[in-house]
Amino acid sequence: MINADLEKVILSAEEINSRILEVADEINRHYHHTVREIILITLLDGAIVFTADLIRHLSVPLRLDCIRVSSYGNSTNPETAPRILGTLKSDVEDKHVLLVDDILDTGNTMQKVFSEVAAKKPASLKTCVFLDKPDRRQNNFQADWSGFSIPDEFVVGYGLDYAGRYRELPYLGTLKPSIYSQSSS
Ligand code: IMP
Ligand code: MG
Repeated sequence: MINADLEKVILSAEEINSRILEVADEINRHYHHTVREIILITLLDGAIVFTADLIRHLSVPLRLDCIRVSSYGNSTNPETAPRILGTLKSDVEDKHVLLVDDILDTGNTMQKVFSEVAAKKPASLKTCVFLDKPDRRQNNFQADWSGFSIPDEFVVGYGLDYAGRYRELPYLGTLKPSIYSQSSS
C-alpha cells in the first residue's frame, strides 16, 4: 500500500536498495587500499535515511559526523543562500572526507558545505548524493557519486520531506497537488 498523499511512486524500495549496493561498491573501490579511514559527513535531516543504508555497505572504516543546513521551511522552493547551523565535532584537517546529502537540486547547499569543509584542508574531499536533479542546477556542482538522476519534480520519501513530513517512506514519490494547497496540521 502506498501512502494516500502520493500521486505516484518514482523509485521503489527495491530499486533504491539495489542501487545503493552499486554506489557503495563504487565508493569502496575508490577508497580501497588507499585510505585507512574516512570521515563521512551527513547533511541533516534529509540524508539520514540514505546515509544509514549506505554506510552499512561501506567497507572503508569511517567516522560519522553531521552538519545541519537551514532548510526550506514549509515551501518547495530552496533558499538561495543556505546557512550552516552548528559545527562539526571532527577535525577534518588532513583527513579523507566524504559529504553525503539527499539531493543535489540547485547545488547551493553542497557548494556552500563543500567550500566550508574544503577551507579546513582535508586530505581529500568527495561528495555523494542519493538524488541529482541536474535541470535545477544554479552552479557547476557535480557529485562524485549519485544514486539516481531525476527530472525536475518535487519528491518525498526515503529521507526527503515536504513541510517535515514523509521522510519515513521507504520509497520515493511525488505528492498529489491537493497536498500543497492544504495547511499542515
Ligand atoms: P539545493 O537546492 O541543492 O541546495 O538543495 C537543498 C535541499 O533542498 C536538499 O538537501 C533537500 O533537503 C531539499 N530539496 C531539494 N529538492 C527537493 C525535493 O524534491 N524534495 C524534498 N527536498 C528537496
Ligand atoms: Mg536536505
